[in-house]
Amino acid sequence: MVDFGNALLWAKELWKSCLKEGSFAVDATMGNGYDTLTLARMVGESGRIWAFDVQDGALENTTKRLEKENVLERVRLIRASHEFMDEYVPEKVDAVVFNLGWLPGQEHAVTTNTKSTLTAVNKALELLKPGGLLTVCVYPGHEEGRRELACLTEWGRALDDRRYDVISRGYENIRLNPPRLIAIVKKQ
Ligand SMILES: C[S@@+](CC[C@H](N)C(=O)[O-])C[C@H]1O[C@@H](n2cnc3c(N)ncnc32)[C@H](O)[C@@H]1O
Repeated sequence: MVDFGNALLWAKELWKSCLKEGSFAVDATMGNGYDTLTLARMVGESGRIWAFDVQDGALENTTKRLEKENVLERVRLIRASHEFMDEYVPEKVDAVVFNLGWLPGQEHAVTTNTKSTLTAVNKALELLKPGGLLTVCVYPGHEEGRRELACLTEWGRALDDRRYDVISRGYENIRLNPPRLIAIVKKQ
């Protein structure tokens, strides 16, 4: 039987097609560092990742994970909201990725929110090189996630099609509001 997979898997497939040895990328929601590690492996020793989170626990867990895999030196871990990414990332990048929501296993109170997410995705578009990729995994199974999805959908649809290609992918018939992927390519 064909398995359609899920939003994070679709995002990772896009990262793989965009990133190579020496690429630069931003992980806008570091969390426990699983995505940061995936990105760090994709960009190799000569690449660079800037990873953001607002929680100390995220930086601690991610540091341990990256140290264990011997890739810490290619990653800059930044304890700041992604809405300020332009102040920390000095280069244009090949990809910016968001995996919204809260840190698994922690307080749900610290979740991404619509206002800062929207500021951050706009800054991400500015940071992208021509041909660069933005992916956002959105979780509409909770109230703030539903707001984020509605807002990002409207925002994506309004982007100038001469400058960006925008897609949205998700299950149409599952009642539990599964995650959805919004992906954007900045045209050359
Ligand atoms: C679903 S988790 C990310 C999972 C992570 N990518 C991983 O691989 O483990 C979402 C993360 O976003 C973080 N977050 C919430 N608001 C944020 C903000 N304004 N800027 C950066 N990170 C934020 C949360 O603290 C949480 O760790």
